[in-house]
Parts: sequence; C-alpha cells; structure tokens
Amino acid sequence: MVKHVLESQQFDVDFLTTLFARTKEIKRLMQSPEGRAGLAQTQRNKLIAMLFYEPSTRTRMSFDAAAKHLGASVVATENAKEFSSAAKGETIEDTVNVLSEYLPDAIIIRHYETGTAQAASIASRRPIINAGDGKGQHPTQALLDLYTIQDEIGRLDNLNVVIGGDLKHGRTVRSLAYLLAKFKNNSITFISPKELMIEDDIKEYLNRHKVPFKEVHEINGSFESADVVYWTRIQKERFDASKLTTSFVITPKEMVTMKKSCILMHPLPRVDEITTDVDKDPRAAYFRQAGNGMYVRMALLGWVLD
Ligand code: NCD
Repeated sequence: MVKHVLESQQFDVDFLTTLFARTKEIKRLMQSPEGRAGLAQTQRNKLIAMLFYEPSTRTRMSFDAAAKHLGASVVATENAKEFSSAAKGETIEDTVNVLSEYLPDAIIIRHYETGTAQAASIASRRPIINAGDGKGQHPTQALLDLYTIQDEIGRLDNLNVVIGGDLKHGRTVRSLAYLLAKFKNNSITFISPKELMIEDDIKEYLNRHKVPFKEVHEINGSFESADVVYWTRIQKERFDASKLTTSFVITPKEMVTMKKSCILMHPLPRVDEITTDVDKDPRAAYFRQAGNGMYVRMALLGWVLD
C-alpha cells in the first residue's frame, strides 16, 4: 500500500507515540558525528521530489534537510507555480503522474488550493506528503506541534489549549485540532475576530469526539488557565484583510497573565501578532518548535520510505 500523508486525522495514538519516540531518538543521534553518520545510511539511494506552489521557508528547508540527513537525494522545483508546467496549464494529476515515472520514493507537495494533496494522491503511484494545501490542512506541521507540546510539557492529554488568530484561513490550527482530539481530556478555547472563526467541520469533529471547546473574541481572561497558547498570523494572501478592525497581539503584558508552565507556540512566520520583546521569555517556544520540525520530518520520512 502507498503510504500517503494527507490529513492529520489519519494518524492514531499508537502511530503518534511511535513516531515521537523515533523523533526523540533522531534528535539525540543528530547531536553526535557518529549518530549523524549512522542516520545518513538509513535512506541511501532514495529520492524525494518536492513541488512547492506556495511560498515556504521552514517546511521546504526542513524537509530538504531531513531527506539529506537521512542520505536521500532531493529533486525540487523552486516556485512550482511559475517554474513548473503548471504555468502552462498542466493539472496536478498530470504532473504527479509523470513524476511517478521518475521513481521518487515520496512526492512532497505544497499548494494554494485546498484538496490538492488528496487529488494528487489519486493520480500518483508514489507516496504523496501534504506540505500544506490552501485552507485545508498541514498535517506535518501538526505533528511537529504535537511533538513540541510533548517535549515541552511532558504530556498530550489533560491540556487546556488556547488557539488564536486567523482560524478561518489557517490550515495549521485545523490539523492541530484533529490531533488534540485524539488524546483524553483536552479542551480548546478558540480566540479570533468574529470574521475569522474556525470552520464548522472542525467544530463538528470536536463535538463528535467529545472535546469541549469554546469560541471567544478577546484575549482578556483566556490565558490564565492555559497550558498551551498557539498563536497564528492573519492569512492576508487568502482574503481581503483590509476591512478587519480587530487584531490580537501578544506582548509581554499578555504574557504576565499566563502560567509559569504555559508555553507560547506559533507555526511561524510571525508577522506582528507576537511582539519581538516576547521572544526572550522562556515560555516562548516557537523557535524551538520550528527546530523540532526537521526531526519530526526525518522520523516521518523514515516511516514513509521504509
Ligand atoms: C504555516 C503554513 O504554511 O500554513 N507555515 C508553516 O508551514 N510553518 C503557517 C502560516 O503560513 O501562517
């Protein structure tokens, strides 16, 4: 069976537990020259293809680095929207159909249209990894987010998680909500302007899985009992944000209301929704979170390629 990675709800708790144990092991091995050399033997002679139709720094570079640290080679087109045959009108189905002929061991795709990874998986004879599709999902981001919570807090259940920002257009929060629902006694507070609330499909999923959640429209009073605050930017490229009147910014003043043990996460890029003077607060976990991305993707590639 071809191992596609398309949406975060495809993973179960057993899979996540194994993946995170492997991630921890990889992170440890990567700290020594011997460990790195050993890992670089694990996927030798494998080939990863990367098609990114949307801007990316972390996801693209960390997948590229992850593949190379495992000894695999990478073929990629930078800015596939402009430089691939998509610019001439080729469909994603035709593109992956042809790419499959070159025998890559996985094809990693980021696209501006929701559902593209799913569509590609139907046409592809090789594993497709969704690296973010429009307003849909970003499953590998959710994996690294969850790994970070486990790494920083030591558990994935009994968590009060506050998720804020542009919840309507942000795909990372959607993928994360699905994963949080897999563990016991988690509850979620969604904070957003009224125009940018989380979509109904996520709320229905949370209801079905008996995950308590509430929706609020101001920061005041929401951080005090949080174990995790997960903040996101306004996705200006996906809608006309010029009429937006509210914006939620975390400054050192908001940090005062958080518990000492709470962590502040963000998938990055951060624009102005967390001020830079928050960075030195030890609870600001977003750069550590981004660092975990490469290790989680190494573990995930290991699973896909083996
Ligand atoms: C996110 C994305 O692409 O959805 N970035 C990332 O991969 N870390 C978040 C964002 O762009 O706001």
